[in-house]
Amino acid sequence: MIHTEEMEFAPRVVSPENIAEDGDAEVSLRPQSLHEYIGQEKVKEKIAIYIKAAKGRGEPLDHVLLYGPPGLGKTTLSSIIAHEMGVNLRVTTGPAIEKPGDLVSLLTGLNDNDVLFIDEIHRLSRPVEELLYPALEDRVIDIIIGKGPSARSIRMDLKPFTLIGATTRAGQLSAPLRDRFGVIERLELYNKEQLTDIIRRSAMILGIPCEGDGAEEIAGRARGTPRIANRLLKRVRDFADVMGNGCITKEIASIALSRLEIDGLGLDSLDRRMLSMIIKGYGGGPVGLETLAAAIGEESVTLEDICEPFLMQLGFLGRTPRGRVATRLAYEHLGILPPEQEKSRDDGQLTLP
Ligand code: ADE
Repeated sequence: MIHTEEMEFAPRVVSPENIAEDGDAEVSLRPQSLHEYIGQEKVKEKIAIYIKAAKGRGEPLDHVLLYGPPGLGKTTLSSIIAHEMGVNLRVTTGPAIEKPGDLVSLLTGLNDNDVLFIDEIHRLSRPVEELLYPALEDRVIDIIIGKGPSARSIRMDLKPFTLIGATTRAGQLSAPLRDRFGVIERLELYNKEQLTDIIRRSAMILGIPCEGDGAEEIAGRARGTPRIANRLLKRVRDFADVMGNGCITKEIASIALSRLEIDGLGLDSLDRRMLSMIIKGYGGGPVGLETLAAAIGEESVTLEDICEPFLMQLGFLGRTPRGRVATRLAYEHLGILPPEQEKSRDDGQLTLP
């Protein structure tokens, strides 16, 4: 699940995707129980009930689909589910399962009620996905033996198991696959208070002295994403060690984050480039995503999966059928006059300071 090989340039410090420098620390910071897991209250409440019910019946949990922007804890939640169910967790990703045979060995290697976690499940190949249907529905797989006219298929029973699929793009999942999940939950971006709690918890585990308002300063710039919050915590710690006495204060956090070019709301240079291209290059929009991506030299999926959820949550960006538009708030944040004010000024109706 480390995506560095797909990245052409140095990964952004505010990238919500798992990058090499997150290393094992991300694993050690992972909560082990639902009780320790901060945020996603509604999802947690429901999952706790499903786990209790399944355990009471001695059955596996129903198959679960988790979707939402990257870095919000889909993998973490899956490991908690396996832990609370008292079963093993097997972790893989859609693109890693190249052939149907790969899926067969994963499925046949599971013990009773184990959890198989498939990240980026929207990237499964068609033959693999089709093999998964009877596995999910009837707990059987059809294995083809031989080739050509003499090929025959044998049906194999599987042990009871739970599939947890994770995706940033629920819309790209085929209907037959989506329909085979009994539980479908969307993870939401975290608010500042939840991120502050996560940072304080991580600082405690990592033994980093961190004042409350230092944690809050980082939380306010972590774009709603625990993975980013934990990464920023480690970067700010470096500044605290070198520029201060090792303790993360509000002031140190603010200096460090500014040096990292993360502004007061958590936007980095890519977010700002995207908004200013819409505003300055396309009169505020609407502009199509592909056109925009080409204009700033980024992949459209990066803009769509990573910049947009956050910019939309801030109310800086709108999506219309004709393309993306920058909102008045975006103009204000970038210190650019919105068009109607610009016009009023030209008309001499408004005197700006
Ligand atoms: N670390 C990363 N995500 C977390 C969460 N949701 N709760 C607690 N610690 C976390």
